[in-house]
This record gives sequence, C-alpha cells and structure tokens, in this order.
Amino acid sequence: MNIAVMPGDGIGKEVTAEAVKVLQALAGSDAKFTEAPIGAAGVAAAGVPLPPATLELARKADAILFGAVGTPGDESGPRDKRPGLGLLTLRRELKLFANFRPAFLFPELVGASSLKPELVQGLDLIILRELNGDIYYGEPRGIRVGDSGRREGVNTMRYTEPEIERIAHVAFRTARARRRKLCSVDKANVLETMQLWRETVAAVGKQYPEVELTHLFVDAASMQLVRAPKQFDVIVAPNMFGDILSDAAAMLTGSIGMLPSASLGEGDKGLYEPVHGSAPDIAGKDIANPLAAILSAAMLMRHSFGREDAAKKIERAVAAVLATGYRTADIMQPGMKKVGCREMGAAVVAALAR
Ligand code: IPM
Ligand code: MG
Repeated sequence: MNIAVMPGDGIGKEVTAEAVKVLQALAGSDAKFTEAPIGAAGVAAAGVPLPPATLELARKADAILFGAVGTPGDESGPRDKRPGLGLLTLRRELKLFANFRPAFLFPELVGASSLKPELVQGLDLIILRELNGDIYYGEPRGIRVGDSGRREGVNTMRYTEPEIERIAHVAFRTARARRRKLCSVDKANVLETMQLWRETVAAVGKQYPEVELTHLFVDAASMQLVRAPKQFDVIVAPNMFGDILSDAAAMLTGSIGMLPSASLGEGDKGLYEPVHGSAPDIAGKDIANPLAAILSAAMLMRHSFGREDAAKKIERAVAAVLATGYRTADIMQPGMKKVGCREMGAAVVAALAR
C-alpha cells in the first residue's frame, strides 16, 4: 500500500499524524507513507499550492490521506497562490469526481449534536457531492473591469450532461446498496444549469426503478436537513451546494471534527480527508479532534484497499474510545474526560489492539 500523506496546513498536520498512527498500527509494514506539502505549505515549500512533486506523488500513490488547507486571509490573495487551489487542482487532475461525506452519529455523541436527541438518534446519511464541476471550475471566471468602469466579479455555473450522469449513477448505486432513497439537490427553479441537473438525474433514475428519487431545491434541503435529517438516506448535490450542506450535516453528528470523506473517481485511487478545515485558531495547540481524519483512514482502507475488516476495526475502535468517555474540546460534554488530539489518537490505537 503506497499512501501519500498530505497534511496541508493548520490542524491538518496534527490530525493526519494521528490517522497515520492508526493505519500504521493496523497495516504495519504493508503500508508505506510518503509525505508531501500542499496548500500554504506547498506555497512555502515550492511557491505554489500544488507543487509538481506533490501532484506526481499523488499520481503514483494508491491512496491519498489529506489533512486540510488554508491560512487566515486566504480569500484576499491572488488566486494562483490560494491554498484551497491546491486541493481543487488535485481533485480535478486525478478526476476524483465523487465525494462521499457520510454523516453518521455515534450514539455516544447524541448529546453533542446541535439538534434534539430524538431528531438525530440513529442518524446515518451520505452526502454525495459532485467534485469536478460546477461554479468551482466553470469559465469564464475572474474579477474584471466592467462596462461602467467599475470592477465586476464573474463565475460560471456549468455542468455537462455526461458529468451529471456519472455522478447520478454513483448516487443511485450508493442508494441501492443502502435504504434505497435518493434526494437530488438543485436550484432548478432559478438556474438553467440546475434544470439540466434535475432532468438528467431523473433520466438516469429510470434505470434504477428500485430507488425512490426525490428532488429538493437547495434552500429547502438545508431547511429539511436541520428540521428532520433522518428522512434522508443519500443526498446527491452539485459541487457548491454539497460543500455547504455537508458542513451543516457535520454539526448534526456532534461536530465538524467528526465527519470523514472519500473522494473517488473511476478507479480504486481515492483521496481521503476530514471535512473540516485547517482551523488556524486552534492549530498547534493539540486540541483538534482527530476522529474525522481517523475515520477518513477507515474509508481509505475500505475503498482503496478493499479492507472492510480494517475499516470496521477502526470504526469500532473510535466507538469504543467514545464509550470510555474521551472527548476533545469540540465534542466535550459534562462528566466526560477532556483529551487533546494526540491523546485521542493514542486511545484509538490502543483500542485497536483490544
Ligand atoms: C471542502 C473545502 C474546500 C471546498 C476548500 C478548502 C477549497 O471547503 O472540502 O469542503 O470548498 O471544496
Ligand atoms: Mg467545505
């Protein structure tokens, strides 16, 4: 197993270190880890957010374990130096178009959720986010001087039929293997691109009569997600709406520090990353929650190496550690034992052995 490790920035470094320890404990010498800089770390090391050597390593690796990218003030710098661009380019170069963000509530964290226990108890949904298209990549884009002599910002929401079809097939197949409910999110009442999204998803759905397909506008979807999240099984969303909805879904599971993700393409190669950002405000303090990164490592074992046994082991170890009362600050509850990032990681490693 050749695993490329890209810690990135901020707490990305801290949480991937714990995920690597977990993988090492499980896979031993079968796993080879090679680290490379990306994001602001890429800019510091090689002047660009995705250094060529990092991309090369990603191409050669069987799987990529990713941390987080971003530094304060990112949004104001030139686009080609922005940390997030490193990740966006990597997703596109490797054609990782299907981003699975499973929002699963560990029973121990019911009290940590932002919603009442009865609304989230047993929550288990997947947000499938399209990752290679949409306004994230559409051209034209930029800030330019408009006709009035004042500046204007332009971005383009764009999807081709084949792009929508391929994510729709993944969505229906995912739903078919679960509770057979798929909700497609769009804004077809306003945007033509989203009208095409809805029509295309519906057309693909004809091939999957066993899956119940519903459509929601993104505003209604975000409302339903916090009103009655258990109605959902699989949610398929375009890139930008999926970005937004998955952060909201994360909070239902207790913390954004709990949500893992897998970005997959046509082959076995995948990129695995916690959904949370680089959290510069808490970076370097050993207080970040490494569980989303550790659960991403479980997804890596499952999807890139077909090691369902190992994935389950990690997930059970996380559940066991939560059951013993260990909590990082973000999921802290009365009567529990507050631990730091490293202590939490070590506890998961210890639980693996039991
Ligand atoms: C995510 C992040 C990224 C995105 C940023 C860092 C570019 O928010 O993975 O959810 O918007 O896709
Ligand atoms: Mg995001």
